[in-house]
Amino acid sequence: MKTPVFIQLHHDSAEHIRQELVLGLTANPQPGGATVSPKFLYDALGSRLFEAITELPEYYPTRTEAAIFKAHAEVMARVVPPGATLIDLGAGNCGKAAGLFGVLAPSRYVAVDISVDFLRATLASLQRQYPALTLVGVGLDFSHTLALPPEAGAPDAGPRLLFYPGSSIGNFTPAQALVFLRQVRAACGPVAGSGLLIGVDLVKDAAELEAAYDDALGVTAAFNRNLIYKLNRLVGTDLRLADWAHHALFNHMESRIEMHLVAQRDLTVQWPGGRRAFSRGERIHTENSYKWTVPGFSQLLREAGFAEPLVWTDAPTVDAGRFAVMWAGA
Ligand code: AVI
Repeated sequence: MKTPVFIQLHHDSAEHIRQELVLGLTANPQPGGATVSPKFLYDALGSRLFEAITELPEYYPTRTEAAIFKAHAEVMARVVPPGATLIDLGAGNCGKAAGLFGVLAPSRYVAVDISVDFLRATLASLQRQYPALTLVGVGLDFSHTLALPPEAGAPDAGPRLLFYPGSSIGNFTPAQALVFLRQVRAACGPVAGSGLLIGVDLVKDAAELEAAYDDALGVTAAFNRNLIYKLNRLVGTDLRLADWAHHALFNHMESRIEMHLVAQRDLTVQWPGGRRAFSRGERIHTENSYKWTVPGFSQLLREAGFAEPLVWTDAPTVDAGRFAVMWAGA
């Protein structure tokens, strides 16, 4: 039986993280106001809350994407090269990729997540199930740059299948998404047949979108408000849970769901070395989740250097789809 290899690339220092958070908290009220990057949503509790979100009746993306993979597995198996290095971006519990091993038939699986510690137990258990598969865990914050280590396999050793499911691309602005997709295109390497398999959430009715990000049980609210604990831990702020409410809205102009924390009264937040006053109703912007159209995202892929994508959705006609899975050859 093989053993998984683990590599942790650059970790931001606690001081660097504190500075980034303080910069967001003190950002000018106009035009954008205070912000916290959505990457801070995923601590141990936040990651569990996100897993719970994926099971909510209102949060359609996860189950819709899974249904698309199931319905089109045979065709996908024909277009995706067998024996590829499968590079899973934001692997988490590796469940989505592992569920597709039978369809995608990789020879090597590279799970990339922000911390290699999240990957250790999962890859060890996957190795027991797939003793002959080469498994590599990479700890990397690819929202900065996607620079894979040599252990991920030589770029010219065989086709590479970059896998970015879950509509996480929506958490980048379109400009950031283009930069990121260009890096993904470069990471595909020179071997023919390589490409990107990606899940993209599509524009739909605002009421359905807003319900998906403000569910009746309050799990998404807890996911967002958990940032209050996180800020208190990492920055030493004196934020109180009772003072901040969750708010999600669809911004039609920008084609994105926005999540905010809204101050429930006039208050001043203090931390070692700083303070900021918030008036009642003032917001901290915590996440964007962009919703694309199929033509819009296909255009973005072309701009990033990919070929015209193959598109599968949950509807008989692509333009009626609520979620899309796309295969874009490099
Ligand atoms: C991880 N990402 C794709 C989720 C989304 O839908 O944008 C994060 C999320 N935020 C609130 N609910 C889910």
